[in-house]
Amino acid sequence: MEVISEKDEMRGIVERAKAGGLTVGLVPTMGYFHEGHLELMRRARAECDLVVVTLFVNPTQFAPGEDLEAYPRDFERDRGLAEGVGVDYVFAPEADEMYPAGSSTRVEVEGLSGVMCGRARPTHFSGVATVVCKLFNIIPAQKAYFGQKDAQQVAVVRRMAADLDFPVSIVPVPTVREPDGLAMSSRNVYMEPDEREQAVALSESLAAARELVESGERDAGAVAAAMRDVFARYPAVELEYISICDNIFLRPLDELEGQVLVAVAARVGRARLIDNMLLDVK
Ligand code: PAJ
Repeated sequence: MEVISEKDEMRGIVERAKAGGLTVGLVPTMGYFHEGHLELMRRARAECDLVVVTLFVNPTQFAPGEDLEAYPRDFERDRGLAEGVGVDYVFAPEADEMYPAGSSTRVEVEGLSGVMCGRARPTHFSGVATVVCKLFNIIPAQKAYFGQKDAQQVAVVRRMAADLDFPVSIVPVPTVREPDGLAMSSRNVYMEPDEREQAVALSESLAAARELVESGERDAGAVAAAMRDVFARYPAVELEYISICDNIFLRPLDELEGQVLVAVAARVGRARLIDNMLLDVK
């Protein structure tokens, strides 16, 4: 496995591989790998000839006052884990390689960026769309892998790739969870032990919603109310939103029908956690 820090060198490697008939899989990350990240890499490894993982804590997706400086980092550990699952290249640029002085273009995916997490983080998805757009140009892969854990990010990236004509297919990968159901996240390390215990509220609320829908409930208000009842049992967890919406436009639904995204966000101590599930409602 090789670590590359310059854009031109990275693009050259990918272009030569493609000219030689190889398929390239891209896995964008901000590092501090857990099983969720590794699952994306394994999927790419199984489906592509050449696997490129990017490791870049992207400053434009953090607002002032968010956790850019505190974001956990451990490059040596990450390098070993990526190598262990058979990654070919890690692209790990410095911030000024990605955003040289004078850089001022931003990619804005209207509509999708302002709802759900976009309410608490109004500039976040513009930063994500911008860096992913740049990564698609630097690493023109045929397939790019994203975790379904960040469902809104998947929706934003899909929209951006379609709207800007990137010839890449976006592959969503199911959420990897801890044994108690908590979705794995690099930010889980921010929680104190008692907070960590109560963080099951998110996945439990989703399980309650699933159970209700499976028993025939189709009213979004009733499903959200049952989810709120779960959160009420966990005082350390401060619910930010419950969203019951379609999976493409993220428009709120009154009645559950078709592909439904049920998503939650909550604060637990210093951590801001998100989780979601997709339901196929007949
Ligand atoms: P990061 O939070 O490091 O996540 C990298 C990828 O891993 C994302 O696609 C994310 O959805 C996926 N992922 C995280 N936790 C997961 C889990 N428990 N199960 C499955 N997949 C999981 O998301 C980002 O970085 C950034 O926004 C990025 C796309 C790299 C742009 O900077």
